[in-house]
Amino acid sequence: MNVLLIGGGGREHAMAWKLAQSSMLDELYVTPGNPGTLRHGRNVEVDLQDQRALRHLIIDKRIRMVVVGPEAPLVDGLHDRIAADPGLKGLVTVIGPGASGARLEGSKEFAKEFMLRHGIPTAAFRAFGRGELDAALEHVRRTAGPYVIKADGLAQGKGVVIAASREEAEQTLKDMMQGTALGAAADRMLIEQHLSGTEVSCFLITDGEAFKMLPSAKDYKRIGDGDTGPNTGGMGAVSPVPFADREFMDKVHDRIALPTIRGLRSEGIPYQGFLFMGLMNVGGEPYVIEYNVRLGDPETQAILPRLRSDLMDLFEGIATGTLSERHVDVDDRSCATVVLASAGYPGKYETGKAIVGLDLVQSAHVFQSGTRQEKDRLLTAGGRVASVSAFGKDIEHAIINAYTNVALIDFEGKTHRMDIGQDLLNTSAGRGGTGQKLGIK
Ligand code: AMP
Ligand code: GLY
Repeated sequence: MNVLLIGGGGREHAMAWKLAQSSMLDELYVTPGNPGTLRHGRNVEVDLQDQRALRHLIIDKRIRMVVVGPEAPLVDGLHDRIAADPGLKGLVTVIGPGASGARLEGSKEFAKEFMLRHGIPTAAFRAFGRGELDAALEHVRRTAGPYVIKADGLAQGKGVVIAASREEAEQTLKDMMQGTALGAAADRMLIEQHLSGTEVSCFLITDGEAFKMLPSAKDYKRIGDGDTGPNTGGMGAVSPVPFADREFMDKVHDRIALPTIRGLRSEGIPYQGFLFMGLMNVGGEPYVIEYNVRLGDPETQAILPRLRSDLMDLFEGIATGTLSERHVDVDDRSCATVVLASAGYPGKYETGKAIVGLDLVQSAHVFQSGTRQEKDRLLTAGGRVASVSAFGKDIEHAIINAYTNVALIDFEGKTHRMDIGQDLLNTSAGRGGTGQKLGIK
């Protein structure tokens, strides 16, 4: 089968790498892809808004499956446009939900209301429209901090502010509700109850009827060690997560995954593809912070290496509505992923720096994101440049292995966190680890 994979980040490089291992795959096309995906398929240019061009590509390349990496095309209705195209009728399966299902990520208020309807544990909230600034300020004055303030729509990571003080919360609400910086994403605003705990990213794959849980991962979002500094797209990940043990994952399955898939069905919302449940572990109880309608980046780079099953087989299960008959087989080993970024990221950074040492990496996978090939040189071309994923018999060994390989790669301004996975070693639940802090230089 020929597949078109949409996206061009580390997540998509990992997906391309995984798909290319399948005997069910004939040709893999990636758009836009990156120099990393080029090793597993062909990169093609197509404007996803241009339905004629997309149709032509699908027909010309005999594509039978479109796998969507990022959320924006899904929220934007790409699935629906392909499904409704008379020229493509019955020809292609899209892995990723239609616009109605993608609202779980595209509208935080919709997601919250959905969770309320289906009894899915999440932080309490209030929603306010642009004209309701006074009511929102009044709500802040009547409640205790910290305040979790969120724009309803997609805001490229800039739509959530955790305000410690009442003054900061009021200022944030004024800025977001009166300003134009976030566009229509801030037409509705949410103020949520603040949850204290540890975050964990859980994933499932579904054909709309059955679903299968995928490995969990912990993401490290801040740029600095010890979770300091500004938020990024993600600076590293570890899978599995020691505290997301059998008991915890059973709760995730029963209280969150199952009612979510049942809820979608009962509301007549078709959903096929991945669902990312961003959870907070509050004293052993899972609460949903957010849904994403895709896999995570960089979580994917830590979970796909652990997936023993053929990803194409799972996708085939979606295409034929037979996911219940497929198996998700997971490697027991731990995988640690360290993201290499350009100096200055997530603020301003320079690009065009030569990347060296990739050929020295032997005991890890390097998934590229912000890279560009120029003749025989690989150059940096983005904030997050690449992620290095390595196995270990436990988290401690996975981390050591990942950092050993990180040290082999170099480019001017190479920046990364030194403490990916460290916090997990310090928990009593640390599976197989020594419980000691590692002295990584
Ligand atoms: P979101 O975009 O909804 O995932 O929010 C971004 C980040 O804000 C999350 O990854 C959490 O670290 C934090 N956050 C969001 N909602 C809450 C909440 N209700 N309580 C505490 N932290 C939260
Ligand atoms: N790593 C978080 C995300 O993909 O949203």
